[in-house]
Amino acid sequence: MIEFNNITFSYPSKELFQDVSFKIDKGEFVFLIGESGTGKTSLLRMINMEIFPQNGEVIVYGFNSRHIKKPEIPVLRRKIGFVFQDYKLLDDRDVFENVALPLYLSGVKPDVIKKKVFNVLNEVGVFDSYKKLPHELSGGEQQRVSIARAIVNEPYILIADEPTGNLDPFVSFEIIKLLLNINYKGTAVFIATHNYDIVRRLKSKRLLQIKDKKVLDVVIKE
Ligand SMILES: Nc1ncnc2c1ncn2[C@@H]1O[C@H](COP(=O)(O)OP(=O)(O)OP(=O)(O)O)[C@@H](O)[C@H]1O
Ligand SMILES: [Mg+2]
Repeated sequence: MIEFNNITFSYPSKELFQDVSFKIDKGEFVFLIGESGTGKTSLLRMINMEIFPQNGEVIVYGFNSRHIKKPEIPVLRRKIGFVFQDYKLLDDRDVFENVALPLYLSGVKPDVIKKKVFNVLNEVGVFDSYKKLPHELSGGEQQRVSIARAIVNEPYILIADEPTGNLDPFVSFEIIKLLLNINYKGTAVFIATHNYDIVRRLKSKRLLQIKDKKVLDVVIKE
């Protein structure tokens, strides 16, 4: 599904990855950890094909970073749901409109949009807030809306960059439970996080760590 094959990646002033290879399979649930500045966000941006490795290749749902053409990138991104730490909701649109946006952009018919948006708002637990503006919601509720927006197009994978970074521990765990539930229904989930408390609580889940410019599977010891 997602493969990194012997990639190296540098920004002009900093080398982040050296000969990195790993795979994420269909339906997996994976955490990505690593100290600040090690390249978690950059790695996620390579999956989205916003940035490209200098060597090696990233293959995402059949699209190869070495060959992908510009018009194919939106096609690839429709298979990926993205959730950000700061939600990135449109402040002047209500909850319904925020979640409906990716469907409008994909040319889905209005009656189908309505059905899908209400379904997904129900799934993430903010159905009653569909007419509210983002600033009328709590942080946890805003994150639920942003998760709804990310899954409304039924992506193969949901990628979340620090999805609990701005939330208290209880609400953070509620968000993680929601992501687990989405995964349970078949969507792969890949979460970059600093939240070691959550990673420890879910130590049966796969854990990738960025360290010394490598990405390795790690197991948490008791
Ligand atoms: N567009 C860019 N141009 C140049 N350097 C960048 C760019 N984006 C990130 N960097 C640098 O690359 C390094 C890795 O950044 P990245 O955001 O991927 O790390 P991170 O692991 O997500 O960090 P954090 O945990 O703080 O979110 C940092 O040193 C950062 O300053
Ligand atoms: Mg980051």
